[in-house]
Amino acid sequence: MVINGQNGLSEVQQDEYFQVNALQLVETADGSTTIFNTIIGEHYHSRHGALQESRHVFLNEGLLHFLNDQDKSDLAILEVGLGAGLNFLLSADFCLTHGINLNYVGIEPFPLPSSFVCQTGYVHYISDELWYSFIEKYELSVNNVMSINKFCQLQIAHCYLLAFQSEQRFDIIYFDAFSAIHQPDMWSFESIEHACRFLKPGGLFVTYAITGHLKRSLKKMGFSIEKVPGPPGKREMLRATKN
Ligand SMILES: C[S@@+](CC[C@H](N)C(=O)[O-])C[C@H]1O[C@@H](n2cnc3c(N)ncnc32)[C@H](O)[C@@H]1O
Repeated sequence: MVINGQNGLSEVQQDEYFQVNALQLVETADGSTTIFNTIIGEHYHSRHGALQESRHVFLNEGLLHFLNDQDKSDLAILEVGLGAGLNFLLSADFCLTHGINLNYVGIEPFPLPSSFVCQTGYVHYISDELWYSFIEKYELSVNNVMSINKFCQLQIAHCYLLAFQSEQRFDIIYFDAFSAIHQPDMWSFESIEHACRFLKPGGLFVTYAITGHLKRSLKKMGFSIEKVPGPPGKREMLRATKN
């Protein structure tokens, strides 16, 4: 199934999509769990390894790359498609360990119930302290800024990407939408431009995919593009800097 448009789901489709019984937890090649949405026929992460993908694309090639050339004690990250929060958890764990203040906003039109997130097993990849605080505050962070710990704030923006508005500007955008095959509108010039509006000059846009259209869109916005080796199962991914 193709999800057409940011708001293009009919109410019935949205209801179906929302239902947790449309979601299945499945094991990926590295032993970590992802979610399979049976309505749209798409996984939330790579079947070659959810944890490996998240660590490679967003942590190593995103956050750590960004921190390579600068000594930052405060960081703001905007994620498009918070999903089950794996990218958030790995980033928050890194920031907690390194004493970096993290302000994280995750756009998510269909926040998952915390009872479902609890079943992902992501507790094993971060500190217990972070996990239990995350689970306690997760649902409260929908449209509210919640302190997860002394280093980290989370807000889930409960809206579609194109409806997202904020005065805040971010250092990094994690663009983790469903693939263009299933959700082409998320990769349109309009969507990418809208997301990039919230990026600071010098900020980083990172995603697991790389297509000619995406490169052209970012170049048109004046970004510098880098092709980076992808996670297992993907030859390349894209990283771009806002000039
Ligand atoms: C590939 S999954 C993200 C996985 C997630 N980052 C994680 O670590 O679990 C894509 C996410 O985008 C969300 N999504 C769907 N339509 C969207 C839209 N128009 N704007 C923002 N997010 C959307 C989906 O609900 C889903 O959670």
